Amino acid sequence: MTETIRVLLSEDEVNRRISEIGAQISADYAGQSVHLVCVLKGAAMFMCELAKRITVPVTFDFMSASSYGSSTESSGVVRIVKDLDEPLRDRNVIIVEDIIDSGRTMAYLMKIFQDRGPKSLRLCALLDKPDRRVTEVKTDYTGFNIPDQFVVGYGLDYDQRYRSLPYIGVIEFGEEDA
Ligand code: IMP
Ligand code: MG
Repeated sequence: MTETIRVLLSEDEVNRRISEIGAQISADYAGQSVHLVCVLKGAAMFMCELAKRITVPVTFDFMSASSYGSSTESSGVVRIVKDLDEPLRDRNVIIVEDIIDSGRTMAYLMKIFQDRGPKSLRLCALLDKPDRRVTEVKTDYTGFNIPDQFVVGYGLDYDQRYRSLPYIGVIEFGEEDA
């Protein structure tokens, strides 16, 4: 089997959209500060690029959760592998995620974060596959809605690979040439 990556969203398109979201967040939180929570590992590249474009004061934290299931399907049974270092209480929290697929992972995590008493809690996702939704999740900032295809790059992986691609691509599998 060969794997090829077809460009879905170019580096320029992604960066332009992130600039728009950064400007939107800066306007929405004018005169306040925001606390960005990166869901590792997929959202790391997105969060760094987004943070650079936010003009109000920003702090960061990181968490890692693993959802039981196959490599391309989550189960909704989520285990926190690495929890946040700092409390969320009284902060303007924005959860930064790479992609919302079935919604199971984020529905679970948002409930946990809400229980920690933030001043406000919003969700920002680079990508959304609305056709795949099983559990409802309210996304406040979305980079792009994409069709039901498995994508890699800009932090997203297939079996831990392709995270470093500076664009978003669709992974396609073909037969090896003879
Ligand atoms: P959900 O719980 O089904 O919404 O799964 C969301 C998680 O599945 C994301 O945070 C990704 O880690 C992973 N995921 C879903 N779709 C893709 C994809 O197309 N490429 C890479 N990872 C994906
Ligand atoms: Mg993820």
